[in-house]
Amino acid sequence: MSRLAILISGHGSNLQAILDAAAAGRLPGVEVALVVSNRREAYGLQRAVQAGVPVVYFPFAPYTRAGRPRSAYDADLAGLLRSFGVEWVVLAGWMHVLGNSFLSHFPERVVNLHPALPGTFPGTHAIQRAYEAFQRGEIAHTGVMVHLVPDEGVDVGPVLAQEVVPILPRDTVDDLEARVHAVEHRLFLQVLRAIMIPGGVGA
Ligand code: GRF
Repeated sequence: MSRLAILISGHGSNLQAILDAAAAGRLPGVEVALVVSNRREAYGLQRAVQAGVPVVYFPFAPYTRAGRPRSAYDADLAGLLRSFGVEWVVLAGWMHVLGNSFLSHFPERVVNLHPALPGTFPGTHAIQRAYEAFQRGEIAHTGVMVHLVPDEGVDVGPVLAQEVVPILPRDTVDDLEARVHAVEHRLFLQVLRAIMIPGGVGA
Protein backbone atom coordinates (compact mmCIF):
# COMPACT_ATOMS: atom_id res chain seq x y z
CA MET A 1 0.00 0.00 0.00
CA SER A 2 1.13 3.55 -0.76
CA ARG A 3 0.46 5.59 2.34
CA LEU A 4 -0.96 9.04 1.75
CA ALA A 5 -1.34 12.00 4.10
CA ILE A 6 -3.87 14.70 3.28
CA LEU A 7 -3.24 18.15 4.73
CA ILE A 8 -6.22 20.48 5.08
CA SER A 9 -7.19 23.77 6.68
CA GLY A 10 -10.89 24.03 5.97
CA HIS A 11 -13.98 22.64 4.33
CA GLY A 12 -12.36 19.51 2.93
CA SER A 13 -14.50 18.85 -0.13
CA ASN A 14 -11.43 17.66 -2.01
CA LEU A 15 -10.53 15.47 0.94
CA GLN A 16 -14.05 14.05 0.74
CA ALA A 17 -13.62 13.29 -2.96
CA ILE A 18 -10.46 11.31 -2.15
CA LEU A 19 -12.08 9.49 0.79
CA ASP A 20 -15.11 8.60 -1.35
CA ALA A 21 -12.89 7.31 -4.16
CA ALA A 22 -10.87 5.22 -1.71
CA ALA A 23 -14.06 3.79 -0.16
CA ALA A 24 -15.40 2.96 -3.62
CA GLY A 25 -12.24 1.07 -4.55
CA ARG A 26 -11.15 3.68 -7.08
CA LEU A 27 -7.75 4.17 -5.42
CA PRO A 28 -6.51 0.59 -5.22
CA GLY A 29 -3.22 0.21 -3.37
CA VAL A 30 -3.55 3.64 -1.77
CA GLU A 31 -4.28 4.07 1.91
CA VAL A 32 -5.20 7.42 3.42
CA ALA A 33 -2.97 7.04 6.46
CA LEU A 34 -3.59 10.39 8.09
CA VAL A 35 -5.39 13.71 7.78
CA VAL A 36 -3.70 16.75 9.32
CA SER A 37 -5.26 20.14 9.87
CA ASN A 38 -3.52 23.27 11.11
CA ARG A 39 -6.94 24.66 12.07
CA ARG A 40 -9.02 23.11 14.81
CA GLU A 41 -12.35 24.16 13.30
CA ALA A 42 -11.62 22.69 9.86
CA TYR A 43 -14.75 20.79 8.84
CA GLY A 44 -12.58 18.34 6.94
CA LEU A 45 -11.47 16.86 10.28
CA GLN A 46 -15.02 15.62 10.85
CA ARG A 47 -15.11 14.13 7.37
CA ALA A 48 -11.93 12.18 8.11
CA VAL A 49 -13.21 10.96 11.48
CA GLN A 50 -16.42 9.84 9.77
CA ALA A 51 -14.34 7.85 7.29
CA GLY A 52 -12.35 6.24 10.10
CA VAL A 53 -9.09 7.92 9.12
CA PRO A 54 -6.67 9.06 11.86
CA VAL A 55 -6.64 12.84 12.31
CA VAL A 56 -4.13 15.18 13.90
CA TYR A 57 -4.63 18.85 14.68
CA PHE A 58 -1.21 20.40 14.26
CA PRO A 59 -1.23 24.19 14.73
CA PHE A 60 1.63 26.56 14.02
CA ALA A 61 0.70 29.09 16.73
CA PRO A 62 2.50 27.29 19.62
CA TYR A 63 5.73 27.50 17.63
CA THR A 64 5.27 31.24 17.10
CA ARG A 65 4.52 31.73 20.80
CA ALA A 66 7.64 29.81 21.77
CA GLY A 67 9.74 31.88 19.35
CA ARG A 68 10.50 28.80 17.28
CA PRO A 69 11.03 29.13 13.52
CA ARG A 70 8.81 27.82 10.75
CA SER A 71 11.52 25.30 9.94
CA ALA A 72 10.97 23.65 13.34
CA TYR A 73 7.25 23.29 12.63
CA ASP A 74 7.98 21.95 9.17
CA ALA A 75 10.49 19.40 10.47
CA ASP A 76 8.11 18.22 13.22
CA LEU A 77 5.26 17.91 10.72
CA ALA A 78 7.47 15.80 8.47
CA GLY A 79 8.39 13.67 11.51
CA LEU A 80 4.71 13.19 12.34
CA LEU A 81 3.95 12.03 8.81
CA ARG A 82 6.98 9.75 8.81
CA SER A 83 5.77 8.17 12.05
CA PHE A 84 2.60 7.19 10.16
CA GLY A 85 4.66 5.68 7.35
CA VAL A 86 3.52 8.35 4.89
CA GLU A 87 5.11 8.38 1.43
CA TRP A 88 2.88 10.81 -0.46
CA VAL A 89 1.49 14.14 0.73
CA VAL A 90 -1.49 15.89 -0.73
CA LEU A 91 -2.24 19.53 0.07
CA ALA A 92 -6.00 19.87 -0.21
CA GLY A 93 -6.79 23.41 0.85
CA TRP A 94 -3.78 23.55 3.20
CA MET A 95 -3.14 27.18 4.14
CA HIS A 96 0.45 27.11 5.34
CA VAL A 97 3.55 27.43 3.17
CA LEU A 98 5.89 24.48 3.69
CA GLY A 99 9.64 24.95 3.42
CA ASN A 100 12.55 22.69 2.74
CA SER A 101 12.61 21.29 6.28
CA PHE A 102 9.39 19.55 5.30
CA LEU A 103 9.74 19.14 1.55
CA SER A 104 13.18 17.50 1.66
CA HIS A 105 11.56 14.50 3.39
CA PHE A 106 9.17 13.93 0.49
CA PRO A 107 11.00 14.85 -2.72
CA GLU A 108 8.63 15.02 -5.71
CA ARG A 109 5.92 13.55 -3.52
CA VAL A 110 4.06 16.63 -2.35
CA VAL A 111 1.09 17.50 -4.55
CA ASN A 112 -0.93 20.72 -4.41
CA LEU A 113 -4.22 21.75 -5.91
CA HIS A 114 -4.80 25.33 -7.05
CA PRO A 115 -8.18 26.64 -8.19
CA ALA A 116 -6.77 28.59 -11.14
CA LEU A 117 -4.52 28.02 -14.14
CA PRO A 118 -0.70 27.85 -13.81
CA GLY A 119 0.81 31.24 -13.08
CA THR A 120 -2.52 32.87 -12.26
CA PHE A 121 -4.03 34.06 -8.98
CA PRO A 122 -1.55 32.45 -6.56
CA GLY A 123 -2.55 32.51 -2.90
CA THR A 124 -5.95 32.84 -1.30
CA HIS A 125 -9.32 33.74 -2.86
CA ALA A 126 -8.19 32.69 -6.34
CA ILE A 127 -11.73 31.98 -7.54
CA GLN A 128 -13.05 35.32 -6.31
CA ARG A 129 -10.12 37.14 -7.93
CA ALA A 130 -10.63 35.29 -11.22
CA TYR A 131 -14.31 36.17 -11.11
CA GLU A 132 -13.49 39.85 -10.61
CA ALA A 133 -10.86 39.79 -13.37
CA PHE A 134 -13.49 38.33 -15.70
CA GLN A 135 -15.91 41.13 -14.77
CA ARG A 136 -13.21 43.64 -15.70
CA GLY A 137 -12.73 41.90 -19.05
CA GLU A 138 -9.18 40.81 -18.21
CA ILE A 139 -9.65 37.05 -18.60
CA ALA A 140 -12.01 34.88 -20.65
CA HIS A 141 -11.85 31.77 -18.46
CA THR A 142 -10.14 30.38 -15.41
CA GLY A 143 -9.14 26.84 -14.50
CA VAL A 144 -7.68 24.34 -12.11
CA MET A 145 -4.19 22.95 -11.79
CA VAL A 146 -2.52 20.16 -9.88
CA HIS A 147 1.21 20.47 -9.39
CA LEU A 148 4.21 19.19 -7.47
CA VAL A 149 5.53 21.40 -4.68
CA PRO A 150 9.30 21.73 -5.15
CA ASP A 151 9.92 24.70 -2.83
CA GLU A 152 8.35 27.51 -0.84
CA GLY A 153 6.80 29.18 -3.87
CA VAL A 154 3.05 29.65 -3.51
CA ASP A 155 1.00 27.65 -6.02
CA VAL A 156 3.94 27.10 -8.37
CA GLY A 157 5.78 23.98 -9.43
CA PRO A 158 5.84 21.30 -12.11
CA VAL A 159 2.31 21.00 -13.47
CA LEU A 160 0.82 17.50 -13.37
CA ALA A 161 -2.54 18.45 -14.85
CA GLN A 162 -4.55 21.52 -15.72
CA GLU A 163 -8.00 22.16 -17.06
CA VAL A 164 -9.77 25.26 -18.28
CA VAL A 165 -12.99 26.18 -16.47
CA PRO A 166 -15.34 28.49 -18.39
CA ILE A 167 -16.83 31.60 -16.80
CA LEU A 168 -20.29 32.45 -18.09
CA PRO A 169 -21.51 36.05 -18.29
CA ARG A 170 -24.42 35.37 -15.94
CA ASP A 171 -22.36 33.48 -13.35
CA THR A 172 -22.45 34.54 -9.75
CA VAL A 173 -19.25 33.93 -7.86
CA ASP A 174 -21.01 30.96 -6.23
CA ASP A 175 -21.79 29.49 -9.66
CA LEU A 176 -18.15 29.79 -10.61
CA GLU A 177 -16.98 28.30 -7.33
CA ALA A 178 -19.23 25.29 -7.77
CA ARG A 179 -17.95 24.75 -11.32
CA VAL A 180 -14.31 25.06 -10.25
CA HIS A 181 -14.76 22.67 -7.33
CA ALA A 182 -16.46 20.06 -9.52
CA VAL A 183 -13.44 20.11 -11.84
CA GLU A 184 -11.05 20.01 -8.88
CA HIS A 185 -12.64 16.93 -7.40
CA ARG A 186 -12.32 15.06 -10.70
CA LEU A 187 -8.89 16.31 -11.78
CA PHE A 188 -7.25 15.80 -8.38
CA LEU A 189 -8.32 12.16 -8.32
CA GLN A 190 -7.25 11.63 -11.89
CA VAL A 191 -3.75 12.85 -10.97
CA LEU A 192 -3.55 10.83 -7.76
CA ARG A 193 -4.48 7.71 -9.67
CA ALA A 194 -1.91 8.46 -12.37
CA ILE A 195 0.99 9.09 -10.00
CA MET A 196 0.25 6.69 -7.15
CA ILE A 197 -1.12 3.62 -8.89
CA PRO A 198 1.12 1.76 -11.35
CA GLY A 199 -0.68 1.94 -14.70
CA GLY A 200 -3.50 3.86 -13.02
CA VAL A 201 -4.37 6.67 -15.41
CA GLY A 202 -7.86 8.21 -15.29
CA ALA A 203 -10.49 8.42 -12.59
C1 GRF B 1 -9.66 24.35 -3.17
O1 GRF B 1 -10.26 25.28 -4.03
C2 GRF B 1 -8.20 24.21 -3.47
O2 GRF B 1 -7.88 24.36 -4.82
C3 GRF B 1 -7.59 25.34 -2.68
O3 GRF B 1 -8.34 25.38 -1.49
C4 GRF B 1 -9.66 24.89 -1.74
C5 GRF B 1 -9.98 23.83 -0.74
O4 GRF B 1 -11.32 23.41 -0.81
N1 GRF B 1 -6.18 25.14 -2.51
P1 GRF B 1 -11.80 22.19 0.06
O5 GRF B 1 -11.36 22.45 1.50
O6 GRF B 1 -11.17 20.94 -0.49
O7 GRF B 1 -13.30 22.17 -0.06
